Amino acid sequence: MASPRRPGESGPEERPEEGGEAAIAAHWREEGPLPPPEGLRRTANVRDRALWDRFARAGFPDAFREFGDLLDWIRPFRQVFDGSRPPFYRWFVGGELNASANCLDRHLATRGDRVAIRFVPESERAEDRILTYRALHARVNELAALLREEAGVLAGDRVTLHLPMTPELPITMLACARLGAVHSVVFAGFSAEACGHRIADSGSRVLVTMDGFWRRGRWVDHRAIAHRASEVAAREGRSLERLLVWTREPEAPRPGGPTGPVPELHLAEALVRFRGTTVEPVPMPSEAPLFLMYTSGTTGRPKGAQHGTAGYLAYAAATTRLVLDVHPDDVYWGLADIGWITGHTYIVYGPLTLGATTILYEGIPDYPDADRPWRIAERLGVDVLYTSPTAIRQLRKEAPDAPLRHRLRFRVLGTVGEPIEPEAWRWYFDAVGGGRAAVVDTWWQTETGGILCSTVPALDPMKPGSAGPPLPGIDLAVLDEHGAPIARGSGRAGNLVVRAPWPGLMQTIWEDPDRFVATYFARYNRDRASRDWRDWPYFTGDGALEAADGYIRILGRIDDVINVAGHRLGSKEIESACLTVPGVAEAAVVPVLDPVRGRLPEVFVAIAPGAPDPGEVASRVTAAIEREIGKIARPRAVWVIADMPKTRSGKIMRRVLAALANGTDAGDITTLSDPAVVEEIRRRVAAGRSSSGSAPGPGST
Ligand code: PRX
Repeated sequence: MASPRRPGESGPEERPEEGGEAAIAAHWREEGPLPPPEGLRRTANVRDRALWDRFARAGFPDAFREFGDLLDWIRPFRQVFDGSRPPFYRWFVGGELNASANCLDRHLATRGDRVAIRFVPESERAEDRILTYRALHARVNELAALLREEAGVLAGDRVTLHLPMTPELPITMLACARLGAVHSVVFAGFSAEACGHRIADSGSRVLVTMDGFWRRGRWVDHRAIAHRASEVAAREGRSLERLLVWTREPEAPRPGGPTGPVPELHLAEALVRFRGTTVEPVPMPSEAPLFLMYTSGTTGRPKGAQHGTAGYLAYAAATTRLVLDVHPDDVYWGLADIGWITGHTYIVYGPLTLGATTILYEGIPDYPDADRPWRIAERLGVDVLYTSPTAIRQLRKEAPDAPLRHRLRFRVLGTVGEPIEPEAWRWYFDAVGGGRAAVVDTWWQTETGGILCSTVPALDPMKPGSAGPPLPGIDLAVLDEHGAPIARGSGRAGNLVVRAPWPGLMQTIWEDPDRFVATYFARYNRDRASRDWRDWPYFTGDGALEAADGYIRILGRIDDVINVAGHRLGSKEIESACLTVPGVAEAAVVPVLDPVRGRLPEVFVAIAPGAPDPGEVASRVTAAIEREIGKIARPRAVWVIADMPKTRSGKIMRRVLAALANGTDAGDITTLSDPAVVEEIRRRVAAGRSSSGSAPGPGST
């Protein structure tokens, strides 16, 4: 391991520097608190403060036993927490369990006929597909049998899933979990390149995909991506052995079109032989990895956040109960994609562990119109809704009165992924919740496994624009550059850290423990040799403000991660994609505030003298980004410039570029090697914007 670092000195992964989102955070006025809705005081899962007493500092770590007790154990754990090797922690030590048994088998006797998953297809002409706990259990068992017998999948193997939002996605996840195999779900919107890297990094031998899916009424051919992804993985030294293909329409004939070198198995057809087969859930040690979820960091490629079985699952179940207030008889709707962590924890594992009904919606929120979510919620009697500020802003913009036309009965309304501004918050509360539902603004990350910061529906007053206090047992602090806590209510922003471990924390970065330490702990650890977890604060990468009452307001990323519509993109990844375009000498990506999607990336590229077709560069850059990452990373504008603003030592000043793109003050530019560059870029951006409103202008895409 590297030598100890002085506090305030940055690690190789994170440079709290110029271009961070927190630097362009919109500063809205702090709003007064609203009391928790009256009705919840009588019905909520958590109605008194005793939980906070149990989780007070003296309760660490034993208080977390009650999270472990939410699970069904094959062999009970003997120790709640082992912190002897920080920052690699073990939770519920000595226990054995199976995650799929916790989501399925445990409910069969008492609630087997209850709906586990209700699938709402994008087309309103198609009927919902209903899977009771018994039916879901049967499908998962059959697939587990097939995975084991036809694809040789065993405990510990990694399996990559590149699947859209249909029941086959959770079925495949749970079938992997049943065998003790580690699933790695890649968001369906990611490109073949992005999927291929993740296959290679995780060392998956098997890829599970689907022939296609519906998006805005159009058929998306998804299977072709799998073959290209397998080529990318092969180039990186990992040859897939098996490609398993689901069909979007279960009765559809074998998918047509070209095949690749990897042998394909048509799942609907092959599963016929496994009808009614059951597979004993494999008993897994508490700390066995359950899944990988790749997420963007500051440098290099996305990293595989590795989550363990017991700690993750216990935390998922506990926070679904506590914050989203899901009851076993609820109809719960996580309007998000399972391809991201929100869907893993709060569409699949949390709600199913609790035995609730979880809705799986294939489409995007505003298709065919922005009334759709409210039609669905009314028809199905949704009790709890969890979605992103981007979806809320979009639905509000397109049809602000739509929710008022429906009989909605939400009890809790959750938001996640980005800061939500008070205006959008109020619409969610008033129009969607009718002033009766609790709004919870939940802050967390891929790495944290579940929610860390939020109000608790029946107990905490809500403050629009502020995520709220940390959950019981979560020791959050806002630190300055030197590691000193910033006083509450001082109005000064700092770095958000978590001082004590909790069960949902990721275990490590897949096959890269050093990077795990460097990324999340090096920043504030003073003694690398320390065996005391108190010396290892977890560095979140977010900037935050703590109000006098302890409520946390998240300002955004302070590193090179850009949060686009609640999805995390690494600027470095986007920049590497730009550099694949011939003629591009340098690239810098910055976040730009967007009224609907929160932030969007804009790209500055400097072209090499004598570059071929400079006029084509902008569109090529966009195409390269879509090819390497996916449409999700499509920049709002590509600015082709002659020179980058640089320090005398040659470092690109992203802070200055971010200010220019956002039309804000560029601050001190006297340290630049050529301050004149700034004026030139400002003119370039202004001319581009004025020729086409706020949309990208000439020289941009
Ligand atoms: O910047 C924070 C923002 O999303 C980041 C985590 O992104 P990801 O790992 O993709 O997980 C998203 C879903 C959990 C955080 O570092 N973020 C998340 N929730 C909030 C938020 N920013 C403000 N308010 C939130 N409620």
